[in-house]
Amino acid sequence: MAKNNPLIVIITAFVVLGLMFSLVKAAATNITTDQHALLALKDRIKYDPTNLLAKNWSTSSSICTWIGVTCGVRHHRVTVLNISYFGLAGTLPPQLGNLSFLQVLAIGNNSFSGSLPDELFFLGNLSSLRVVDLSYNQLSGTIPSSIFQISSLEKLDLTSNMFHGQIPSTISKCQRLQMLSLCINNFIGYIPKEIGNMTMLKELYLGNNKLQGMM
Ligand SMILES: *[C@@H]1O[C@H](CO)[C@@H](O)[C@H](O)[C@H]1NC(C)=O
Ligand SMILES: *[C@@H]1O[C@H](CO)[C@@H](O)[C@H](O)[C@H]1NC(C)=O
Ligand SMILES: *[C@@H]1O[C@H](CO)[C@@H](O)[C@H](O)[C@H]1NC(C)=O
Ligand SMILES: *[C@@H]1O[C@H](CO)[C@@H](O)[C@H](O)[C@H]1NC(C)=O
Ligand SMILES: *[C@@H]1O[C@H](CO)[C@@H](O)[C@H](O)[C@H]1NC(C)=O
Ligand SMILES: *[C@@H]1O[C@H](CO)[C@@H](O)[C@H](O)[C@H]1NC(C)=O
Ligand SMILES: *[C@@H]1O[C@H](CO)[C@@H](O)[C@H](O)[C@H]1NC(C)=O
Repeated sequence: MAKNNPLIVIITAFVVLGLMFSLVKAAATNITTDQHALLALKDRIKYDPTNLLAKNWSTSSSICTWIGVTCGVRHHRVTVLNISYFGLAGTLPPQLGNLSFLQVLAIGNNSFSGSLPDELFFLGNLSSLRVVDLSYNQLSGTIPSSIFQISSLEKLDLTSNMFHGQIPSTISKCQRLQMLSLCINNFIGYIPKEIGNMTMLKELYLGNNKLQGMM
């Protein structure tokens, strides 16, 4: 057999490519990942006055039919999680960070408490996220700076929680941000001047904090 036979080289190349493709596929997430993430959230719910999730978020039906959940047409993965006004109390699990097709995370007007897990916005797994509405809850802790790595972010609403610490100057990395509300929290220190660099910003709410200095 001739050395460096082009046919053998080509076949080997295809085998290697096929192997790499299956490895990538195995490492990639799927709808089961999304289900695990939502079930982790369901596990963290301590109070569900109308048993809404307890009844509706049943593993015998597809997560795409669950109340508050919308899946994308193309990838059939969770794109919207909107459980606003469900009257829920609980905490947020790090697994939510695995909803890699998520565009809208809206949990406003509930009683979620605890801090935002670092893993939530880490490593850019939530790279399609456009809207984060955590308003009117009892969330605390600092804003994980990893959230500002998400360049797709257009709206960040943290109104009326118990977040503290300074407003990170890295916020200006979110160049697509159009609406930012941090009002009614316990933020301290100066307003970062980098906010002035955010050319898309149309709405900015910082009232009812312990901020100092002038804009
Ligand atoms: C999702 O991926 C896991 C592990 O790769 C696999 O076991 C599971 O069957 C997949 N689920 C679907 C619905 O494709
Ligand atoms: C969950 O709620 C949705 C929307 O209201 C409904 O279409 C679906 O049938 C419900 N599923 C179950 C298992 O109750
Ligand atoms: C979430 O649902 C509520 C109630 O149905 C609605 O008012 C709100 O606009 C939704 N939020 C987002 C970000 O879609
Ligand atoms: C999901 O998130 C958790 C916690 O961040 C992590 O341990 C897990 O490996 C992630 N991946 C999948 C596929 O669930
Ligand atoms: C959301 O909750 C806040 C605080 O309880 C309340 O002031 C506000 O009116 C609520 N929003 C709606 C639309 O009910
Ligand atoms: C990002 O997604 C990958 C694939 O599921 C997962 O292995 C990893 O744990 C995720 N990272 C975080 C910080 O959740
Ligand atoms: C952002 O603003 C700061 C101070 O106002 C300035 O020093 C910096 O160069 C600006 N960065 C960009 C990327 O425009």
